[in-house]
Amino acid sequence: MKATAVAHANIAFVKYWGKSDDALLLPEAPSLSIALDRLLTTTTVELGAPEDSLRIDGQQASDAELRRARAVLDAAGIRDRARIDSRNGFPTAAGLASSASGFAALAVAACAAAGQRRDERELSALARLGSGSAARSVPGGWAVWEDRDASQVATPDQLPLRLVVAVCGQGPKPVGSRDGMKRSRQTSPFHGAWIEQCRRDLPEALRLLRAGDLPGLGALAERNALRMHADALGSDPPLLYWEPATVGCLHAVRRLREQGTGAWATIDAGPHLAAICAPSDAARVEAALRAVPGVREVLVCAPAGGARVVERSSDARDR
Ligand code: DP6
Repeated sequence: MKATAVAHANIAFVKYWGKSDDALLLPEAPSLSIALDRLLTTTTVELGAPEDSLRIDGQQASDAELRRARAVLDAAGIRDRARIDSRNGFPTAAGLASSASGFAALAVAACAAAGQRRDERELSALARLGSGSAARSVPGGWAVWEDRDASQVATPDQLPLRLVVAVCGQGPKPVGSRDGMKRSRQTSPFHGAWIEQCRRDLPEALRLLRAGDLPGLGALAERNALRMHADALGSDPPLLYWEPATVGCLHAVRRLREQGTGAWATIDAGPHLAAICAPSDAARVEAALRAVPGVREVLVCAPAGGARVVERSSDARDR
């Protein structure tokens, strides 16, 4: 059996940076994200292959990535060997590749290929075993992840907004999220305060989201992201994910605000910056970020929905 699924990457407004269980990928604090339309991954899983294989954008993936994919299949009770082909509809060479959309699409495609009927929460819990943030890409929209699975708390159209993503670096980051958040938890003196902050930020972010308060929510997301980076910078050895272009974009976003354009920044564990703004301001924000030295590309993204099966077929043996 063979199935293809798509999933969108997500960006968190209240971020996940710290696990309570490293093996089960359970978060220390709840997080809130929005799925992004242009950051789409399409994954095909074909069961009954001679051995497991994983290709990402035509390239053979590392053993570590293959092991993570196998962990998702094992948890779903899929013993058959799988040929997995994953393609990102966005520039991966720029380092925008997303484990969130990748593992969400994998969990959904694999279960469909195996003929399993699972609800969204089960699929979210399976995706989580590949990458924690993937739990939120299964439901999509505005998703909250508290423990084993994530669920959609508001539809993509709850709040009209755009995320203007500035690509500020290239290639894989020196320390991935997996090791980075472990290091922060073990060594950063700020980590406890960071986790407490996230627990306060989530209910406040949900209140602002429901009230349709973009300036309030944008400002909260920017503070939350900078505090996550303060935790990372406080680690030993320190984790610095920013490139000069990242800092240039932070200043550009500040200048836009001073000039009266509502824009707020968020940054994950890497150099890229996403500016949150109203749809009517997206062109102005895009132009401002394009003018920052070192910015390679700018993508304007809108909110998107969850992971879904797009094709399913049985091979000759089943017919
Ligand atoms: C900074 O989900 O990639 O993007 O669970 O170890 O696979 P693992 O980490 P991952 O971490 C994402 C961290 C983040 C914040 C977020 O998306 O909430």
